[in-house]
Amino acid sequence: MRFETKAIHSGRSIDKSTSSVTMPIHLSTTFERAADGSYPNEFVYSRESNPNRHALEDCLTSLEDGHDCVAFASGMAAITSLIEALPADKPRRVIMPSDMYYGVRSLLSDTDIGSNFDIEMVDMTDLNNVEKAINKAPTGLVWIETPSNPLLKVTDIEAVAKIAQEAGAYTVVDNTWATPVLQRPLSLGVDFSLHAVTKYIGGHSDLMIGAAIAKSDSPMLANLRAWQHSKGAVPSPFECWLALRGVQSLAQRMATHCSNTSAIADFLKHHPNVEAVHYPGLVDHPGHQTAERQMDSFGGMLSFQVKGGQDEAMAVAAKVQLFIRATSLGGTHSLIEHRASVEGSTTMAPPNLLRLSIGLEHVDDLKEDLSQALE
Ligand SMILES: Cc1ncc(COP(=O)(O)O)c(C=O)c1O
Repeated sequence: MRFETKAIHSGRSIDKSTSSVTMPIHLSTTFERAADGSYPNEFVYSRESNPNRHALEDCLTSLEDGHDCVAFASGMAAITSLIEALPADKPRRVIMPSDMYYGVRSLLSDTDIGSNFDIEMVDMTDLNNVEKAINKAPTGLVWIETPSNPLLKVTDIEAVAKIAQEAGAYTVVDNTWATPVLQRPLSLGVDFSLHAVTKYIGGHSDLMIGAAIAKSDSPMLANLRAWQHSKGAVPSPFECWLALRGVQSLAQRMATHCSNTSAIADFLKHHPNVEAVHYPGLVDHPGHQTAERQMDSFGGMLSFQVKGGQDEAMAVAAKVQLFIRATSLGGTHSLIEHRASVEGSTTMAPPNLLRLSIGLEHVDDLKEDLSQALE
């Protein structure tokens, strides 16, 4: 089946007890055991498995052409669990990109994970940095985020996966911004593709789920499943149901996100009050060729730097009327965000940078709004 068909059919079937076409929401936390002690439908207790979560995990496995998927209560719960699932016989050393989702940097600075693991952050757009870091000391895990948040840096997934594999390290790609429509890391040699389902897969800014899809069976996958069952940071049946509803239109939504974003990148690039635009679809973006090779299109996120400093950038964000000043991404509404002030004193985002999540509105309305805000 092609992607669009799998997005609608994988993981679902007609409900046998009612013939309902749309899957019911199974709120029951517990499932009856047969007189002989067996569990006729395999479900025992909702933390361990639930029909809606099971269907979502099956669907995401199929969309990434993976072996299995483990879903969590948020993207961050999936990220934390993945790092902690590193098998005990692997070195507790993790190489991460210097530009990545701020929440992961907070996880390292605010919790024990930062001290329990030796973390080195490098600019992965230069493969020499990855080689150097991996040769410095035995490494257990290499973490990739591409395109990165918020600077849209592009990492060569296949090349980094090869370096990591030769060193015996597991690899993860945070594939949230690209989605499985545009980028399939498992086919490029990566062990796990991670999603904040909260974003594009859910697609409507109304749920929180995280998911890790594994390329194959491994001790790390077994640990991850055990973390899901025992720590219990699982998504609710209703949110899994919402995600399964949202994912059905993922391919069609991404096509519009991408075409709108490409047009807005071009518009901003030629605007006299804009200093720089970060979007891998622009031919002069340093990662354009790599992105063209490993992505089917360039995504719905971009960031740009306003001429001047923080005040000028904040003034643009203050003047927009259609864009909503809010964090997050991947929904139908276009969002604008001044990253540095959201991230706080340890931010690495330039003070004049604004991040846009381009939604599904008419692109001319979005351009007109940015145009009046940039005047
Ligand atoms: C790239 C990326 N990964 C992970 C996350 C975390 O997802 P969640 O907010 O569902 O925990 C985010 C959130 O913005 C993100 O942008």
